[in-house]
Amino acid sequence: MKILGIESSCDETAFAIISADIVTNGKFSNKKLLSNVVFSQVEEHKKFGGVFPEIASRLHLDAVSPAFKIALDEAQIDLSEIDAVAATCGPGLIGSLVVGASFGKALAAFLGKPFIPVNHLIGHAMMPRFLYDELELPYLLVLASGGHSLIGVLETPFEFEKFGATIDDSAGECFDKVARTIGLSYPGGPNIEKCARNGDSTRFNFPIPLNDRGCNFSFSGLKTAVLNVCNKYAEINETLRNDIAASFQKTVSNVFQKKIKNAITIVKQKYPNIKSVVFSGGVAANRYIADSVKKVVENAGFNFYVPDIKMCTDNAVMIAWSAFEMFSLNQEFNDLRTDILEDNVFI
Ligand code: KG4
Ligand code: ZN
Repeated sequence: MKILGIESSCDETAFAIISADIVTNGKFSNKKLLSNVVFSQVEEHKKFGGVFPEIASRLHLDAVSPAFKIALDEAQIDLSEIDAVAATCGPGLIGSLVVGASFGKALAAFLGKPFIPVNHLIGHAMMPRFLYDELELPYLLVLASGGHSLIGVLETPFEFEKFGATIDDSAGECFDKVARTIGLSYPGGPNIEKCARNGDSTRFNFPIPLNDRGCNFSFSGLKTAVLNVCNKYAEINETLRNDIAASFQKTVSNVFQKKIKNAITIVKQKYPNIKSVVFSGGVAANRYIADSVKKVVENAGFNFYVPDIKMCTDNAVMIAWSAFEMFSLNQEFNDLRTDILEDNVFI
């Protein structure tokens, strides 16, 4: 079976084609990535310090047709070989989502094949299942992206038991805002990680927000703590910037370590059969944080899974793959009236 996936929820227009055989519910063989195309809009949004929604949807409109054509060429298949079309239908920027989802629905209608609407967060959550054959559901999922920070047990692509989520900003948003405060451009996460490599992580002692035994996150106070430090200096020179970046990044990594420990305590009591922890979403692209989280997870006796950097941030492989996972559970996907979805899994 071959599924074409489309992602356009934020500032990446992405197409991917995956071929695989569905053995039975949630079991696959011969998984192959036939093409993976990502058109990034980052350069266009940099000058605004973040994603400008109206510009994002217009750039998606420009990009969909060429990106689709490259995906087909790369895969070296004929259009008629596509068995289903999947597209992100939420959550995300509404104008951007509409572009990818409408393209997908039109293509599915033209081909007379099923259209599979995919939740963007399920995409991130399922990504490691494509990359690591041995990873079985259910698992403890820690999802940290630009829009969300969540922790809980993923049972199927349709069921998630939430242990906690952010009560204010997401981790990615905090990275982006702190980056702006210290004079780094959008997207903040990778730029902070780069500066942090040359910084002293012990110079500033930022407070760990919501340092309790629960699984909720809070990042807005940390953002303010960074701002308060910056306000004490007339100028943010390179050394100061690097030291703030390193100290901030270390604090975020401490937050994830702490929350994952708390979640593992719940998992051990409630789900004794779970043995794996998945870290996914754009913030999981941060190798310093991923490595420090890995230590906590492995010390607790669990297996740790994180996608490689390009598969942590937005892509269409995760959408095509989630469609395989959904399809294998024998869901009916023939309704082209599917609207842009409210988040119905992670609420
Ligand atoms: O998952 P993603 O690509 O898009 C959303 O679904 O939101 O996540 C984007 C977020 C941005 O906030 C970006 O700054 C953050 O992920 N990010 C990182 C890194 N790479 C991307 N944060 C920390 N370190 C990174 N290396
Ligand atoms: Zn994402």
